[in-house]
Amino acid sequence: MLNNVNEKLEHFQKLCHYFVDGQSQILNNVDRIDIPGQHNFTSAHLPGIYDLFILLKKWFEKNEPKNVCYRKKFLDAGCGIGNILFVAYVTELALHVLHGFENNPQVLKFAKYNTFWTNIKIFNQDLIKATTYGNYDIIYYYRPLSDYKKQLEFEHLVEDQMKIGAVLIPICKQDSAIQNNDKFQTIFLDKKKDPIYKKLKN
Ligand SMILES: C[S@@+](CC[C@H](N)C(=O)[O-])C[C@H]1O[C@@H](n2cnc3c(N)ncnc32)[C@H](O)[C@@H]1O
Repeated sequence: MLNNVNEKLEHFQKLCHYFVDGQSQILNNVDRIDIPGQHNFTSAHLPGIYDLFILLKKWFEKNEPKNVCYRKKFLDAGCGIGNILFVAYVTELALHVLHGFENNPQVLKFAKYNTFWTNIKIFNQDLIKATTYGNYDIIYYYRPLSDYKKQLEFEHLVEDQMKIGAVLIPICKQDSAIQNNDKFQTIFLDKKKDPIYKKLKN
């Protein structure tokens, strides 16, 4: 019997992680479609992302109390099977607009199957060609491109298109120049976690 709330949460996070691992194994066992220059689906560490989203939600509540967090529009660029979109939903980082871009047909099938019964929307969209990054309040990605040059191009595309006030959560970001760019504020939610960035001006 688990009495401690933190212990229960830890077990719940582990359970989610195992589900995602299970789907990754299935994806690895079918004839995998690899697209050159792109990473195939690998999940970010879900318990870590869960904690990060809770910290970000608290940060919004403290720093933008009038701008209710759950109404924010959330995008996962390179959303894989939809795993992070569910974390954004359960942590109430965003409740109404949760979008994912994915272009690997095999991964897309899983993402659509996992989310068809929810309000999460998955788009068959090449993230390098997207023109809608300016629509979102929170943009998350976990290094989608294995090709270094393309990854940098993608990072700059998102940073250029993002709207003022939007927040970027980049996992495994390759270009750290953003930290010295006065268009962005670097926010450390926790000393042990990657920073996030808020766009201040165009
Ligand atoms: C490392 S996985 C991250 C999955 C999920 N976002 C997470 O954090 O757990 C990167 C995902 O990006 C997708 N991806 C890579 N290049 C893409 C592109 N050009 N357009 C759309 N999706 C892409 C891959 O198919 C893969 O599912």
